[in-house]
Amino acid sequence: MGFPIVRMRRLRKTSAMRDMLNQVCLRPSNLIYPIFVDENIKKPVPIDAMPGYSRLPISDLVTEGKQALAQGVKSVILFGIPAKKDEAGTSAFAKEGIVQLAARELKNAFGDDLVVVGDVCLCEYMSHGHCGVTEGSEVLNDPTLELLGKVAVSQANAGVDIIAPSAMMDGQVGAIREALDDEGFDDTPIMAYSAKYASAFYGPFREAAESTPKFGNRRSYQMSQGNPQEALREMELDVAEGADMIMVKPALAYLDIISLAKANFNVPIVAYNVSGEYSLVKAAAQKGWIDEKDIVPEILTGIKRAGADLIITYHAKDAKSWLNQP
Ligand code: PBG
Repeated sequence: MGFPIVRMRRLRKTSAMRDMLNQVCLRPSNLIYPIFVDENIKKPVPIDAMPGYSRLPISDLVTEGKQALAQGVKSVILFGIPAKKDEAGTSAFAKEGIVQLAARELKNAFGDDLVVVGDVCLCEYMSHGHCGVTEGSEVLNDPTLELLGKVAVSQANAGVDIIAPSAMMDGQVGAIREALDDEGFDDTPIMAYSAKYASAFYGPFREAAESTPKFGNRRSYQMSQGNPQEALREMELDVAEGADMIMVKPALAYLDIISLAKANFNVPIVAYNVSGEYSLVKAAAQKGWIDEKDIVPEILTGIKRAGADLIITYHAKDAKSWLNQP
């Protein structure tokens, strides 16, 4: 049966009818709000390539947490910029490290009302900017695992609710699960950056987090953009190692990978709408070429429709202004 008996426009007649039939809805509580916390500053420092975003001192975190909650967002992910970088990423697992201090500050203020996610990586803490221990120009896998375990345990000790390893080392989820369990954190979930592609979309983040590698690139550990099958293997391995959730990153150029993840695994799927994706929107909006408040929900709905249960996004900052929420 077809036209004229079938008329698709019948169900699009009024705004109420369209709302009633809306299949994919965004909720602010499905968004995770990234925070850059910087040990070296006393006042927020705007990030050039990310209009509306700043690096923050610890003293601003409670205000920031309140802002997130006021938007209906219940979760933040922390990235640290330490005062001291070295070849062993020591500041990443220091008791008084910047992320550890930030987590304590937020948990003291908000308790269980705010879910604090800790990005577990070494690039921001290494003098060379790579995500693992290096020897010459090589990034070593196995020696890095022990450090990642230490970072995870120190973050859990500081109150971090969810551990999110992003270094793309083989075996990192298993190593972190074991390290956490050994210290009694068997209740702390792991959100694994499983399918993390080597991407030019991370440019603004690296400016913000001062984590650009000093030599070479990340292509020997992050994935190549042409490979969907490899993403499935990465996700399979992470789930087998104990990942409670798996992530695809970036989001927009990888929507097919998000759909694959959703179709193949029975764990929550997270998508990271990364810095470069945010910057593109902001730049075009500033020029008046697009309408930000319409385009942001369209982008996030697309990511959710592809299969993401949760979205890490810098747009979470003003969720209320574009979400039709009471
Ligand atoms: C750390 C890390 C990166 C991002 C999140 N965690 C940068 C990278 O891998 O170079 C990027 C996030 C973004 O661009 O918003 N490894």
